[in-house]
Amino acid sequence: MNKAVRKAVIAGNWKMNKTPSETTALIGEMKPLVKDADCDVVLCVPFIDIPAAIEAAKGSNIKIGAENVHFKASGAYTGEVSADMLKEAGVEYVVIGHSERRTYFGETDQTVNLRSLAALNAGLKAIICVGETLEQRELGYTETILKFQTKMALTNVTKEQLKNVIIAYEPVWAIGTGVTATADQADEGNGFVRAAIAEAYGADVAETVTIQYGGSMNAGNADELVSKVNVDGGLIGGASLKAVDFSKIVAAASK
Ligand code: 13P
Repeated sequence: MNKAVRKAVIAGNWKMNKTPSETTALIGEMKPLVKDADCDVVLCVPFIDIPAAIEAAKGSNIKIGAENVHFKASGAYTGEVSADMLKEAGVEYVVIGHSERRTYFGETDQTVNLRSLAALNAGLKAIICVGETLEQRELGYTETILKFQTKMALTNVTKEQLKNVIIAYEPVWAIGTGVTATADQADEGNGFVRAAIAEAYGADVAETVTIQYGGSMNAGNADELVSKVNVDGGLIGGASLKAVDFSKIVAAASK
């Protein structure tokens, strides 16, 4: 990792886990374990848990994120949450375009782009997820898919706004499966993302963008993954629900 220009970011994605009271308890457990982190520490939690998470994280180095955001400012969009709502609640980060949103809830590259723009225009930091399926990888399309998804997600995002963008490379086949990409596969995938950013914004700008790896990252494999030049931290699912495991990943990214 080019630590001279990029700080690692370890972000938990809790997905549909933890009630508000469980949120308070888990963040209480995590706080002392991650307090000496030399990386940014973020927890992206279900909407309903956001107030409890912000309260529990007060006075610590843990930042709170949401797991999605709608692209309209307000209106008749039942079940959706706007960027201004998140901002006023005290949220700093938001995950956008996770493969579970793309697969189960019809997110497209276009809505991922619109949601990213809404988040950035509201002053939120966007963690935008990209990743190929196993079929796409086996057909040799990994580079094509990663570059396309990255460029689509960043359409109309200015160079200035890009400072608030993190891309998370999450191979779909590695999410929740226990099958982690090898460190070299993660590095290569993140490299494709960085190359796409370089094509759109220039190589110098691309060097400054934080690109995470996500997909079965855990306390045992984090060290090797984050040691790679293009892996600037991780987006962690299952292991972010366990305080000790999550803190070990934070420690690996702090070296
Ligand atoms: P797991 O770490 O559970 O594989 O999930 C990764 C992920 O989807 C993070 O967004």
